[in-house]
Amino acid sequence: MHFLTVLYTFLALGGISSAASTPQRRAASGLLFNPPGFAPLPSPTTHRGPQPLVAGGTPSLNTSNIQGDILGQASNANALGDPAPIENNWEPVFVDTSSLHGVFLIGANDNTTINAALNQITTALGDSITELYSLQAQARPGAEQGHEHFGFLDGISQPGVEGFTTNPVNGQIVVPAGVILVGEDGDNAGRPAWAKDGSFLAFRQLQQLVPEFNKFLLDNAVFVTGVNGIEEGSELLGARMMGRWKSGTPVELSPLHDNLTIAGDPNLINNFNFTLAGDNSLCPFAAHIRKTNPRSDLSNTAVDPHRIIRGGTPYGPEVTADEAASNVTSIQRGLAFVAYQSNIAQGFQFLQQTWANNPNFLGHPNFPLPGFDPIIGANHGQERFTQGLDPANQTRNITLVQDFIVSRGGEYFFSPSLSAIINTIAA
Ligand code: HEM
Repeated sequence: MHFLTVLYTFLALGGISSAASTPQRRAASGLLFNPPGFAPLPSPTTHRGPQPLVAGGTPSLNTSNIQGDILGQASNANALGDPAPIENNWEPVFVDTSSLHGVFLIGANDNTTINAALNQITTALGDSITELYSLQAQARPGAEQGHEHFGFLDGISQPGVEGFTTNPVNGQIVVPAGVILVGEDGDNAGRPAWAKDGSFLAFRQLQQLVPEFNKFLLDNAVFVTGVNGIEEGSELLGARMMGRWKSGTPVELSPLHDNLTIAGDPNLINNFNFTLAGDNSLCPFAAHIRKTNPRSDLSNTAVDPHRIIRGGTPYGPEVTADEAASNVTSIQRGLAFVAYQSNIAQGFQFLQQTWANNPNFLGHPNFPLPGFDPIIGANHGQERFTQGLDPANQTRNITLVQDFIVSRGGEYFFSPSLSAIINTIAA
């Protein structure tokens, strides 16, 4: 899968409606507006200045009544644990998004199709849009296809959505549609009728320091009876940090070694709920997948509102021989992280801030301080600790001196439904 994220400033979007034909409407369905884009813009100035995004007025998303601040990721950076000042790490386009009004996410099996779609969009919208930034992402090559840059299979566990998911796989919890779609059962944020069935998008450009991550695993390999040699010990440490082996097999079901039979069966790979052990012996409480979806550690009613649908794609080249030999990243690579939810404060923001970055979560009575999510947990660039990674000593804390994921920034957008685009935005 190839992916292109293109951020645009939109001027005079009303032009879409007058020029709309079927293909243009299809292009417009990928149009995502960031909420500030809906705030009243200054009146048109003499020379192609900003104009209202929607002819006849700018529909509001009632952002003021949404719990938390979704009015821009830059203002959220501190809560998300990013180091300050953000100018040091963030792409400039995300630091000041005052002229950023939307994004196209274009996905296809090859770059030719991507470029054709992009060409169609730019031809249709002409000089009413200006490209501010683009990020080319694509599936990794060969056997690594579907795996993110640290090497782990991604895109396995997604919530089922009521009314859409008819045959959930074993272990897949079906959440009320309103967890993902605005205005459906379970979304109580009270957004306006026109926004119904849209979804909020959290986008993050997350750099991954792969050679440094690999060196950390080798230097801190963990051992237990049956796990021999640095290679097995470092694979085990990585699997316990993620909660899954690189194949996707959950450590809860196969704690010491990978198991390709489980990985190959969609009804086995996600069929667990952390009830097999009340401690860190199988899957650490702090593991990435346990922090971000604690399953039966909490009740469904406590977990469901915080589920998200993820659609991230790796960007950047494979690790070069020089990088591998020096253990130092010299070319940027990472994950173009994409998550949909009806409420960013309850979804992405909550997962990052309240669960992944919170050393007290999930505080089991016998293990009250599990530490940070060792994959995405962030402490403003300062060192973090994680408990439970060493199966031979469940209360040992391992210190992570360096972040292996560096936030390059991002933004929050609203993805309207097709009917909202046709009946409200382009009306
Ligand atoms: C570069 C950054 C990241 C990497 C490498 C990464 C990697 C992974 C991998 C390998 C999995 C397991 C496979 C799967 O179930 O799809 C996973 C699951 C997940 N990740 Fe991430 N992730 C990253 C960022 C994030 C962020 C920023 C969030 C949210 C704040 C997040 C939330 C989740 C959730 C909710 C799951 C599913 C847990 C489950 O239901 O079992 N991830 N991630």
